[in-house]
Amino acid sequence: MGQYLFSAVLATAVAERRFPAGFKFGVASSSYQIEGGWNASDKGESIWDRFVHTTPEAIVDGSNGDVACDSYHRWREDVQLLENLNVDFYRFSISWPRVLPTGFPNRLSEHGARYYGDLIDALLERGIEPVVTMYHWELPQTLQDLGGWANPLIADWFADYARVLFDLYGDRVQTWLTINEPLICDFGYDGIFAPGLQSAGRGSYLCSKYMLLAHARAYRLYEREYKPKYGGTVSLVNQVYWLEPQTEQDAELTELVRDISIGRYAHAVFSAEGGWPPALERYIAQKSAEEGEPRSRLPAFTQEEIELIRGSSDMFAINHYATAAVSAAAPDATYGVFAVEGVAELGAAVAPRPEWPPTASDWFTLYPEGFRGALLYLKQQYGDVEFFVTENGYAGSDDPLDDEPRVQYHRDYLAQVLLAMEEDGVRVAGYSAWSLMDSYEWMTGYQASMGLHHVDFSSPDRTRTPRRSAHYYAQVARTHDIDVDYSFHEGDNKL
Ligand SMILES: *[C@@H]1O[C@H](CO)[C@@H](O)[C@H](O)[C@H]1NC(C)=O
Repeated sequence: MGQYLFSAVLATAVAERRFPAGFKFGVASSSYQIEGGWNASDKGESIWDRFVHTTPEAIVDGSNGDVACDSYHRWREDVQLLENLNVDFYRFSISWPRVLPTGFPNRLSEHGARYYGDLIDALLERGIEPVVTMYHWELPQTLQDLGGWANPLIADWFADYARVLFDLYGDRVQTWLTINEPLICDFGYDGIFAPGLQSAGRGSYLCSKYMLLAHARAYRLYEREYKPKYGGTVSLVNQVYWLEPQTEQDAELTELVRDISIGRYAHAVFSAEGGWPPALERYIAQKSAEEGEPRSRLPAFTQEEIELIRGSSDMFAINHYATAAVSAAAPDATYGVFAVEGVAELGAAVAPRPEWPPTASDWFTLYPEGFRGALLYLKQQYGDVEFFVTENGYAGSDDPLDDEPRVQYHRDYLAQVLLAMEEDGVRVAGYSAWSLMDSYEWMTGYQASMGLHHVDFSSPDRTRTPRRSAHYYAQVARTHDIDVDYSFHEGDNKL
């Protein structure tokens, strides 16, 4: 575990600053990662249910989310934890097959619909705003069997599902997030994540296109039929891994890697001209031609599709964890599972710089300045868009409860958000810590603890216990001050 020390210079720069009064603090989770109840009442099977049950060897500890944090039954405890944290909002996700067991709106699950309705009502009663993700990777298996995200009809299916959610909860939910991290297309078509298919650079690109269209259809539906009544917002959530050139020679390649990793999902929505990033589109078209393909493996957009997607997000919802440096790959390069998506296509390699302190997770090292770099880059690329941090957090720590490295992580990354706002004029409306509690972290199973709360997965009660970082975050949410000198005293225990 590397020790990361807050620099004295930075401490001086931020010590006197506070997040503005209207800035919102919250925490995030996702349905498959916490709910369990995978076959409760009439819930349908999701691609994650199928994947973990048929391919347990894809998960480092062979575990699954059948029970997870058991939030399907223990959600009232979660709401209490949220109240203790003083948060303004809770970002959670809805499981598509829990609400629509067949994947289609022909059958609504009363239990599923009531579960999320009760959660939303309980949050609102305590003054906690529900921020709802509509898709955090749980495609109904029934739709996967029909081609899933590679079938263009998924845009209709997703819009149908969106209508069900807007009808059920639109009167109480003001902030909708359509799809969490479309980059999941790369993991899903690279055998790493559900549905575990092998079609990198082909299936993954169909998925990229149809996810953008599905998102845009849901956005336009809300804009046309629900926004006049409810006035809420609808946005896409992008994962932004910040990327820097390893050396000056790598600058051009780095631009292309940013295009495939960030621009593939941001350019179509946020740029003035829409569509794919032009340099990336040319690169893949040329490579496809050299490979003897009759057309580019990156499917083209029609002009109508470009118009539909362009401008289809009310804010830039950003998940950020880490930074990587880009260089040309050795000819025999192999790619780790958490390599930045799409780099193999470009003959690029990504790696941390040696001076960035490592963490317990091989997929990220600590470089808080990268967060500010990413925000400034996005503002320069896409204009003065409003940002909302929908995820930022730290994986692993030596001690189950005294997680000082996580406290440092949030303090230092929040400091960079503050500097981006005050020094670079970037508009940021809110920040979500990932995560409310330890949960099922996909292919790392239960081994990557990312929670402000520890969860005892060996106990049938799934006991939740606040970590030091929960105490710290509750203080930040209350005071809007990152408190560079934060230290914890036993007597301070307010949770
Ligand atoms: C639900 O799944 C569990 C395993 O997680 C199994 O033991 C149980 O029998 C299943 N229940 C139903 C109703 O199928």
